[in-house]
Amino acid sequence: MTVLNLDIPAFLRDYWQKKPCVLRNALPDFVDFIDEHELAGLAMEPELDSRVISKQEQGWSIQQGPFEDFAACQGQWTLLVQGVDRYLDEASELMDWFNFIPNWRVDDLMISFAVPGAGVGPHVDQYDVFLLQGKGSRRWRVGAPEGLTTTQPAKGLCQVETFTPLIDCELQPGDILYIPPGWPHDGVTLADSLTYSIGFRAPDQPQLGNYLAEHLQTLSAAPERYTDPALTHSDSPAEVPDRQLQALKSLLHRAIDANSFSKSLLTMLSEQGIEPDTGEPADSQLLQDCLANDGRLVKLPGCRPLLNETFPDCLFINGEVVNFSAQNYPIMCKLVAQPDIDRSDMAAAPDELDIFCTFTTLVNMGYWEF
Ligand code: SIN
Ligand code: CO
Repeated sequence: MTVLNLDIPAFLRDYWQKKPCVLRNALPDFVDFIDEHELAGLAMEPELDSRVISKQEQGWSIQQGPFEDFAACQGQWTLLVQGVDRYLDEASELMDWFNFIPNWRVDDLMISFAVPGAGVGPHVDQYDVFLLQGKGSRRWRVGAPEGLTTTQPAKGLCQVETFTPLIDCELQPGDILYIPPGWPHDGVTLADSLTYSIGFRAPDQPQLGNYLAEHLQTLSAAPERYTDPALTHSDSPAEVPDRQLQALKSLLHRAIDANSFSKSLLTMLSEQGIEPDTGEPADSQLLQDCLANDGRLVKLPGCRPLLNETFPDCLFINGEVVNFSAQNYPIMCKLVAQPDIDRSDMAAAPDELDIFCTFTTLVNMGYWEF
């Protein structure tokens, strides 16, 4: 795999979150790093979310993994495994092609294998997705987001009724179909097919409301409460005056605007539910020796930490905050985006001692390894 054959500024300007498009030959030399047998192996792991969706004469069915056997693979079936970027280095590297979209918007990589005639049926996703065709081929139809009727042909399987296709194409290996949230699509396999879904996320207001509530419940200082020392006589007790309603909303606005909420929000956005393995604790000297001997620090696959200039001494990683010297903020932005780090990368840090300490902490937390 050499290049992502895509005019990124033009794609973002014309298509991202606006309309679907086919990106022909976007990864020209793409070679599958997994086959259906290895995918089935992943679907047996309890830590991965997997399912088989199949269509037979009696209708649609959906079965959740982890699987002990693949008896569910009957008729026209698709095996789908979520979160593969956390388990395979190559899957994590594939996601790196898409890091022109910020880390916090990225969800995961799902890989599916489908036999001829199979697909998950016409449906809508809530989030943006790039569908990269691996081996085989599929016919994809994509319609407009308006006037859709949803159906549930089996418990846990949401589909939409037929739609008029605006795009009707056959994807070949290395082609990508981009679909914004809400645009119905339906992929039917032509030849045994692997599809890589690079999926994104975007919080909605209820989700952000939950973040705010969680933040307010964990504040150490007593939260601000509504007060009304300037209350005047009212002869209409049932009425809530607009200015009081406004004062209540202002109370909430102040909580939202507080820097402490920005920090909590960044921390919560960084949560990925990763449970890293931690080995023998390392010290900063061990790390320096390892790098001095041409060793490299390798990031845990699928780990996507966040940084923000308002908190230039904080790395937000998987729901945790790691502090470092603010002088190193620009280099941290660079280093945490790399799949691995060597001695010369570290030597570029303005505060070298601190960068070694920071990465020693990150190694001990299990997010990087020698
Ligand atoms: C699939 O891989 O079969 C489904 C992907 C999608 O439509 O989102
Ligand atoms: Co979809």
